[in-house]
Amino acid sequence: MFDLLPNVWTPVLPIAEIENQPVAVALAGERIVLFRNSKDEIGALLDRCPHRGAALSLGRVSADGCLECPYHGWQFHKDGACTHVPLNNPADLQLSKLSAVSLPTRIIAGLVWVFTGEGEAPEPQLPDSLTQLPPVGYANAESYFIYHEVWNAHWTRIVENLMDYVHVPFVHRNSFGSEIVKNATPAGSFVEFKITQTEHSVQFFNRLHSIESGLEIEPGLGSEWYQPNLVVLKFDEMGIPIRMHSFAIPIDRDRSRYLLVFQLLAPDTVEVAKEFISPIVEDRVTIESQVGEIPTTTEECNVPSDRATLLFRRWYHQTIVKLPRHVSILR
Ligand code: FES
Ligand SMILES: [Fe+2]
Repeated sequence: MFDLLPNVWTPVLPIAEIENQPVAVALAGERIVLFRNSKDEIGALLDRCPHRGAALSLGRVSADGCLECPYHGWQFHKDGACTHVPLNNPADLQLSKLSAVSLPTRIIAGLVWVFTGEGEAPEPQLPDSLTQLPPVGYANAESYFIYHEVWNAHWTRIVENLMDYVHVPFVHRNSFGSEIVKNATPAGSFVEFKITQTEHSVQFFNRLHSIESGLEIEPGLGSEWYQPNLVVLKFDEMGIPIRMHSFAIPIDRDRSRYLLVFQLLAPDTVEVAKEFISPIVEDRVTIESQVGEIPTTTEECNVPSDRATLLFRRWYHQTIVKLPRHVSILR
């Protein structure tokens, strides 16, 4: 299961998109269904009825909050337990043997998260900006602004792009890279790095030595990749603190959901966030031109400015690809 991204917590969709109808969504090569029960809890099941394999997402949520299969009306609790099989004498049934496959879920930062493994799910390792409420005065019911779209790219190419600084003056030459573009091409300009690794993340600060001001110089600002598919960018825009979280969520081997989450730290953050979306997704055409997943660290040409992204490549090939349950033909 979930061979493209096994044994991790990943967001799937904003919780606001799960209303009264079940929602079908593809995640890492599997079809799953998300639904909201009568207690406002979110369930996630494999979108495959254990009876004859019909898509549960075509069914409906029953009055008591179970998901009802569209084919023969079997009903399932959000933990997967079968609660009702119509037109059969209950005395002849062993409901405990008729369960659907359920997935551990969490609601964090306005998103539905799913654990893509079996057995006990570990605690997700996430930045404070996703798990802690903003300072008093800013916190409200909607502490996050969320945007997502689908790219025709392998998820690893998108994470790598988010960790890559050197493309900024080229891909973003007409937007936020314009200041850098004047300084990026002359001979003698080079990028400087400071990289700090922790058990679950890599923090990286980059700057062009010829530019004195920039995103990444002040303590506490900069970028950080969190295993497996999150990159956080922290900076200030016209005095407004921006905490931008970018997720690359695999749909299948050729498509990924690029999902942006801005923590609302100031009243004007939503407007700033909306203005950021179109320059941020300028990368899409270029990333969609790359074929397949990121190769191993020796398969393409590398230079010193690739240091941060090479750490991600190494991690991906040493952990995700080498997992015994990873079926390479599906990548
Ligand atoms: S296929 Fe779902 S109840 Fe028969
Ligand atoms: Fe970019």
